[in-house]
Amino acid sequence: MQTTKNTILITGGSSGIGLAMAETFIKAGNEVLICGRRESKLAEAKRNHPQLHTRVCDVAKKAEREELFQWATSEFPHINMLVNNAGIQKEVNFLTGAPELYEDEGEIETNLTASIHLAALFIPHFLQQKTECAIVNITSGLAFIPLKIVPVYCATKAALHSFSISLRSQLAETNVRVFEIAPPIVKTELHREAKARKQAERGIPASDVAEAALKALKNNNYEAIVGQAKSLKGASRIAPGFFHKLLNKVAAG
Ligand SMILES: NC(=O)c1ccc[n+]([C@@H]2O[C@H](COP(=O)([O-])OP(=O)(O)OC[C@H]3O[C@@H](n4cnc5c(N)ncnc54)[C@H](OP(=O)(O)O)[C@@H]3O)[C@@H](O)[C@H]2O)c1
Repeated sequence: MQTTKNTILITGGSSGIGLAMAETFIKAGNEVLICGRRESKLAEAKRNHPQLHTRVCDVAKKAEREELFQWATSEFPHINMLVNNAGIQKEVNFLTGAPELYEDEGEIETNLTASIHLAALFIPHFLQQKTECAIVNITSGLAFIPLKIVPVYCATKAALHSFSISLRSQLAETNVRVFEIAPPIVKTELHREAKARKQAERGIPASDVAEAALKALKNNNYEAIVGQAKSLKGASRIAPGFFHKLLNKVAAG
């Protein structure tokens, strides 16, 4: 896939991995659109990179996803890449009734439903394009071996991994490529909660993931497992139960 002269929408592009990808893709000669919920974060990104196009959008809301699609395709008809990156992570405790499930921010809607719905909206537009197009799903090493303190998060990433495989097969004979980028732990704002934040200290920089994503596009590496996430994928093939226990022990540690 060409890595220059694309028009790319990155959901959740105002911080962390999304912002790092925006910077890397701009540097490589692409036009980049980002969205997020906080206007202040989008404005800050635009101040640092005036060529960015920004849009306030909560991808967890169906109507806002549809508005995002309308804006992107009418203002940038040549758009040929969607990066499903926006994501949140919560510690959910089922021993105490999982109250976190009923809070405003939904992990399933943000991490999974939005990615699937946006793909459904953009694919018909992409199929009309004369150029190669791509859907890029950002999953996680935790798609392969789950961490028990963030159970719903891991389930959304495993589902997005599975969805990426099926979508890739469905679109195999078309001009639309489907990529999955599975990062390991990365130092970002994702880990807001205490236990997860502790582990994030061991994370790699977001710019490493952005470079890996660019390389994956260039080499048509449709399933790019980054850094330590490779060990989790390998472990899931050998002894998933054993490595699940080991991962949780190390994380508690
Ligand atoms: N950090 C890691 O260790 C790690 C590892 C593997 C995979 N990932 C994945 O990488 C992706 C990016 O995460 P990150 O680590 O870069 O976290 P981050 O720094 O918290 O960035 C998340 C981005 O998503 C946006 N966002 C969150 N909810 C949204 C919503 N409902 N609608 C629109 N935008 C929304 C945030 O902006 P607003 O809050 O302003 O909306 C922000 O721009 C996620 O899918 C995450 O699961 C992260």
